[in-house]
Amino acid sequence: MRRGSRKGIKKIGILTGGGDAPGINAVIRAAVKVAVRHYGLKVVGIEQGFGGLIENRTRRLTQKEVMGILPRGGTILGTTNRDNPFHYPVRLENGGIEFRDVSEKVLETIEKTGIQALIIIGGDGSLKIASRLSERYSLPVVGVPKTIDNDLSATDQTFGFDTALTTATEAIDKLHTTAESHYRIMVLEVMGRYAGWIALQSGLAGGADVILIPEIPFDINIVCDKIKERSAAGKQFSIVVVAEGAKPIGGEMVVQKLVKESFEQIRLGGIGSQVGEQIEETTGIETRVTVLGHLQRGGSPTPFDRILGSRLGAAAVNLLMEGRFGEMVCLRTPHIASVPLAEAVGEMRRVPLGSDMVRMARQIGISFGN
Ligand code: F6P
Repeated sequence: MRRGSRKGIKKIGILTGGGDAPGINAVIRAAVKVAVRHYGLKVVGIEQGFGGLIENRTRRLTQKEVMGILPRGGTILGTTNRDNPFHYPVRLENGGIEFRDVSEKVLETIEKTGIQALIIIGGDGSLKIASRLSERYSLPVVGVPKTIDNDLSATDQTFGFDTALTTATEAIDKLHTTAESHYRIMVLEVMGRYAGWIALQSGLAGGADVILIPEIPFDINIVCDKIKERSAAGKQFSIVVVAEGAKPIGGEMVVQKLVKESFEQIRLGGIGSQVGEQIEETTGIETRVTVLGHLQRGGSPTPFDRILGSRLGAAAVNLLMEGRFGEMVCLRTPHIASVPLAEAVGEMRRVPLGSDMVRMARQIGISFGN
């Protein structure tokens, strides 16, 4: 295995790491088809993320294995956001657990399986691991960006986001009809971690009255003023979309729990209930809270995510065959391009405050609570 050399590549591996996102199977399918049909390669699927790479849980992927998976959510390979090879939980004889660097085991699996290059489909955490593996061991690795959060700066959009956005928009549409019938305030908490893309865009698409995102800390009194103003104008209901990472001015994000073994330990959640309670208390209008949760990660990918996933999967194999290791494929509309992995994971992509979407939202009367 040599960085920059595609000569003799006959067998590649595919791994999915981190939280799943609709469209992963489209990436796998396209990568397998291009690898097998176009380049005559053999493909090995690594099961259950980096754990599979450490413990040699692999299976052969032929065109038969990827038949019919394009519309399927999830990943046929399984995934986990634990099992970081540089920080791997090892069970001790006394029953305790110690975290160790077992990254050399990755090399053993690669030797045993005969994999000569690896496609890693992942979000920020998995791609950081991919970047470290590529740097430390000169592993021929190519990354594919994946996350419903859409928070990777090196790509215009990550696959999975469009499906999550569609799910969130459908939820807002449904909340609208019941909010209207009961003269209630409906608060919807959506995912997105430290970025407000899902909240902002679903709020715009679903016609929300208030959108709270991590990038714009809010004042609950301003949120309530907006609701009272609507009420005074005869609008008896309101829709408030809250990103899980939203926080009040001078306050902190609400942490639901810490997952110790995970790449990223913090799990956000709970801001929706806080906002809902405060709104009901201040406005006196009956308020209900819905937390959309993992519904946003599940289900069949939208046509956009199927196509983007397929384009990225094909491009990843092409990149490997061009010997461009240590890079990540990305969308630079209208093209598929690539960037160095280290650069790809360097910066989080958050909603720019000068974004025309934010400006338009304000101009049509949506409140960000500030
Ligand atoms: O990064 C994707 C994401 O769904 C976030 O939006 C959310 O905060 C987190 O993962 C949830 O993680 P888990 O599936 O471990 O609960």
